[in-house]
Amino acid sequence: MASENAEQVLAAWETSSQYWNKHQALIEKMYAPLTRALIEAAQIVAGQSVLDIGGGAGEPSLTIARVVGPSGHVTFTDPTAGMVKAAREESERRGLKNIEFHQSGAEKLPFADDSFDVAVGRLSPMFFADVSGALREILRVVKPVGRVAFLVWAEREFNPFFTVITEVLNQFVAAEPEAEDAPTAFRFARPGKLAKLLGEAGAVSVKERALKFETEAPVDISEFWELRTEMSDTFRTKLASLAPDEVEAVRNAVLKAATVYFQSGSMNFPSQVLIVSGIRT
Ligand SMILES: C[S@@+](CC[C@H](N)C(=O)[O-])C[C@H]1O[C@@H](n2cnc3c(N)ncnc32)[C@H](O)[C@@H]1O
Repeated sequence: MASENAEQVLAAWETSSQYWNKHQALIEKMYAPLTRALIEAAQIVAGQSVLDIGGGAGEPSLTIARVVGPSGHVTFTDPTAGMVKAAREESERRGLKNIEFHQSGAEKLPFADDSFDVAVGRLSPMFFADVSGALREILRVVKPVGRVAFLVWAEREFNPFFTVITEVLNQFVAAEPEAEDAPTAFRFARPGKLAKLLGEAGAVSVKERALKFETEAPVDISEFWELRTEMSDTFRTKLASLAPDEVEAVRNAVLKAATVYFQSGSMNFPSQVLIVSGIRT
């Protein structure tokens, strides 16, 4: 990825960090099934030293800190200052003592070779500036026979949490055709794509599995609109290009299309991710 592109990606995440911080508790709850699945795929147990890549507002680091317990340790990394601050403050609020924070991208990690038992990344690999370089770098800092596990979104059609807004917005703002390797949520949705890169980076016993889950939270449909349009830089940018009456029209159309996911009185979207794991030789 060209370096100005990489800078744009990081600037977008820097702006997003205030919203990920604002919605931290909700995001933690919505994606708790993902955290559990990632911990299982990485086989994380008490006493281990775990590296989290692109930890955002704190997950999965904060949950893993409890799983590894006082004899274990978590190292949270994220390249944006706002995310690091949000995660650190939440950790302090919880009184966690076995976690440390570094502002760092995956491409150049400030750690010695063979430092960690395990490395994980939840919903972050699609934003790496240099994916192959980052995977090699992550494997460098994991100990021999240590595990790495990443979680990425599966195809759009399985994720109406995104498409219910995208499909309406595309009627108002012309969608640019997306390059195969654009650093967006669905960059690794195609089965096998991230797994192949992980194998090429040197991992062995590479496995991929699809996980269906429900994106559930006790929010109503207008809270969903606020959550989604704040969390996503793409949605924020597109909405900012519209006149107020157009924004209102998009909002009304989205609320109508999303009603089906609020039948139970709270939010419930069928969702799907891929979990890709491997072992450092
Ligand atoms: C969708 S968020 C996921 C955050 C968190 N892991 C979660 O699941 O809630 C993506 C994260 O990737 C981070 N990121 C962007 N570029 C990165 C890079 N080159 N290396 C590591 N992380 C990166 C962003 O700052 C952001 O916090």
